[in-house]
Amino acid sequence: MPAIAIIGAQWGDEGKGKATDLLGGQVDYVVKFNGGNNAGHTVVIGEEKYALHLLPSGILSPEVTPVIGNGVVIDLTVLFEEIDALEARGLDTSALRISANAHVIADYNRQLDKVTERFLGSRKIGTTGRGIGPTYADKINRIGIRVQDLFDEKILREKVEGALDLKNQLLTKVYNRRGFTVDAVVEELLSYADRVAPMVCDTGLLLSQALDREETVLLEAGQATMLDIDHGTYPFVTSSSATAGGACTGSGIPPTRLTRVVAIVKAYTTRVGEGPFPTELHDESGEFLRQAGGEFGTTTGRPRRCGWYDAVIARYAARINGVTDFVLTKLDVLTGLEQIPVCVAYDVDGVRHDEMPVNQSDFHHATPILEYLPGWSEDISHCRSFDELPANAQAYVKYVESISGSRMSVIGVGPSRAATIVLHDLV
Ligand code: GDP
Ligand code: IMO
Ligand code: MG
Repeated sequence: MPAIAIIGAQWGDEGKGKATDLLGGQVDYVVKFNGGNNAGHTVVIGEEKYALHLLPSGILSPEVTPVIGNGVVIDLTVLFEEIDALEARGLDTSALRISANAHVIADYNRQLDKVTERFLGSRKIGTTGRGIGPTYADKINRIGIRVQDLFDEKILREKVEGALDLKNQLLTKVYNRRGFTVDAVVEELLSYADRVAPMVCDTGLLLSQALDREETVLLEAGQATMLDIDHGTYPFVTSSSATAGGACTGSGIPPTRLTRVVAIVKAYTTRVGEGPFPTELHDESGEFLRQAGGEFGTTTGRPRRCGWYDAVIARYAARINGVTDFVLTKLDVLTGLEQIPVCVAYDVDGVRHDEMPVNQSDFHHATPILEYLPGWSEDISHCRSFDELPANAQAYVKYVESISGSRMSVIGVGPSRAATIVLHDLV
């Protein structure tokens, strides 16, 4: 009864959506366990391109039951917009199941996300502005609204009143904005109750029973290790647990049932938003990666910051998540480079660091120690086996594998399902 977690090894956008979709035919459940519509997964199936935010990527596979777990924060407007858009394209979304314990993103939290960022000025995080941080803050502060509250108007009203007592003070007195009325917030949330009701269940029980029946459950992370609230580059992180531990707390599957942890890692590195990034390139090489890799955000359209592969981060991700397999994506993007630098360690004030520095300020001014590998110029997007890759591309994969802490089981050579080289099966 395999439960497989798919997580991001870097700062997101590694290609988790494609990897999840790739396994769609082999799994029974795909569970989103953290984050919300801050995520953006692009999946290409034949001529069709899908951009998913809140829905698990498994929604695109007809035989999969997609699940939104308890660790997710749900913007109900976005949920139904995404469902309607997929239905309009002929997809059946009726199998979707949603945890009664997932929290909902209320209007005031979307507003607070935006005004807090403006207030922070140069210290801003560069959030997606979707209300993610404030909603998780409410959850931890025990003033959040859960999906199940939509089915008891009295409780819902009490909770919204409690939250707004504080939030309206903040909005009007600190941020000089208009407050929200309890009636308007309650009315908006209640307007979704009837439509969401048939999807809501105890998803932890659902998944446990599936595992008992020897069915396969895939747990799909939003964001990534370096954006994790505990293990990432705090405070430049998202507000949820995006790592393998989060796959358990965010879904209700116990750690003893996880059989495999698959980390998606790009053949180079990108980041959106603020925060440290040791291998970041500010020159034409960075622009090359951005253009060749189409590195513009799926959610906000922002240009992604680009840099070379960072093996310190890969090793850190391998350790924190207990990675059993890496999927190395976007190898094709490196085609045409004469030589390809790879970061093997950091230099911090003349001291070599093979592991992540303990102090964040050291990480902020770490400079990469680079090894240079010879590049290749042949188009590799049609390669379907490792042997078909040019010798230098094979050597690049073998080299990064040797310094990244786990094996490279799958290689991506293009956005489509087919543009994939499988060295070891993941299911
Ligand atoms: P996610 O957030 O981790 O699901 O990743 P995104 O979808 O935000 O970003 C990854 C982008 O790379 C998407 O546009 C994918 O279609 C694309 N992609 C995924 N794997 C590959 C690959 O191996 N090669 C190329 N060229 N593109 C890929
Ligand atoms: P996927 O799932 C890349 C970043 C934001 C910002 C920080 C906090 O597509 O990999 P938030 O709105 O979450 O409070 O923003 O996290 N961020 C992402 N960056 N990919 C994502 O998701 C991201 N989700 C959030 O840019 O720096
Ligand atoms: Mg993305």
